[in-house]
Amino acid sequence: MKAILCTQYGPPETLRLVDLEKPTPKPHEVLVRVKVSTTTFGDCEIRTLTLPAWTRFPVRLLTGYRKPKRLIPGMEFAGVVEAVGSKVDTLKVGDEIFGMTGMTFGGNAEYVCRSIRPMPGRKPKSVSFEDVVTIPVGGINALHFLRMAGIVPGQKVLVIGAGGSIGTWGVILAKFYGAEVTAVDHTGKLEMLRSIGADHVIDYTSEDFSTTGKKYDVIFDNVYGSDFSKCIRSLTRSGYYLMANTDPLRMLRGVWIELTSSKKVKFALAADNEKDLNYLASLVESGKVKPVIDRIYPLEETAEAHRYVEQGLKKGSVIISVS
Ligand SMILES: NC(=O)c1ccc[n+]([C@@H]2O[C@H](COP(=O)([O-])OP(=O)(O)OC[C@H]3O[C@@H](n4cnc5c(N)ncnc54)[C@H](OP(=O)(O)O)[C@@H]3O)[C@@H](O)[C@H]2O)c1
Repeated sequence: MKAILCTQYGPPETLRLVDLEKPTPKPHEVLVRVKVSTTTFGDCEIRTLTLPAWTRFPVRLLTGYRKPKRLIPGMEFAGVVEAVGSKVDTLKVGDEIFGMTGMTFGGNAEYVCRSIRPMPGRKPKSVSFEDVVTIPVGGINALHFLRMAGIVPGQKVLVIGAGGSIGTWGVILAKFYGAEVTAVDHTGKLEMLRSIGADHVIDYTSEDFSTTGKKYDVIFDNVYGSDFSKCIRSLTRSGYYLMANTDPLRMLRGVWIELTSSKKVKFALAADNEKDLNYLASLVESGKVKPVIDRIYPLEETAEAHRYVEQGLKKGSVIISVS
């Protein structure tokens, strides 16, 4: 099978298109013929190892300490079941599924093996592979965090890093729940953010959201290293600060804030699960929400996709078309 292999930690040129043996599913796995995958900012961070210091060591243990061990990028996939493992009776050949590949990566290839624990999502017939592949990282994370805040119509929600994979889904879902949404991101992404429903936009390159005097019921922060104190100060009395990317110090500060005030600080890793994947796919199917897709690159041009994503130009998701 054709696959993209990361041969060294470093620039996009370290990604090579190679021929590898097609994998064989273990008893609880299915072999998926990948239709589409993605290039996320996380893929670029793994390739360059420009991760927050406290996650670098565990990630290197997983992906290879000095050099990547058979690292095929791609955390998300959507495709068709080609073969099933001996213990799989819940999926069959021909089923159209989608989900995360997880920390084993492997989506940027013609085939990937995926465990059925947890079960992947099922693609509705009328929804495209491109639309569902935006769900496992962007949709699932946004749903996971916004749900913790229990948004009710009319609440004011600020989404920081609103133009990315998770942020665009954050804006879309907060609007779906009836919130008044303010989206913060780079100049070039503001028009797109208005087009997906943001009521107000803030260009972080020229304006600081914390100096406008506005308070928010929910702040959904998708930017590692945002100013914690500014976010807490910009919350209403019992507002929620949701951190998609955190570190031990910010977690401790969050616990302290919860102990000493009525504000809530939430952080957690979101795990994909069949129920939520199918729920978000059903929202797309009903036409109530539409994911944001920026560009589609063929598998052979994955390195080009990485160059584009790491420049910070990406709006929503960048798709890798495999077959
Ligand atoms: N908790 C979890 O389970 C989980 C899972 C996956 C990812 N994450 C984390 O969640 C975060 C978002 O991931 P993603 O895939 O959505 O990333 P992404 O697609 O790169 O989106 C991030 C967005 O933030 C913008 N941005 C950068 N600096 C900003 C600032 N100071 N103010 C406002 N916006 C700013 C970026 O724009 P420019 O670059 O153009 O400035 C970009 O549009 C990442 O930190 C990632 O590591 C968490």
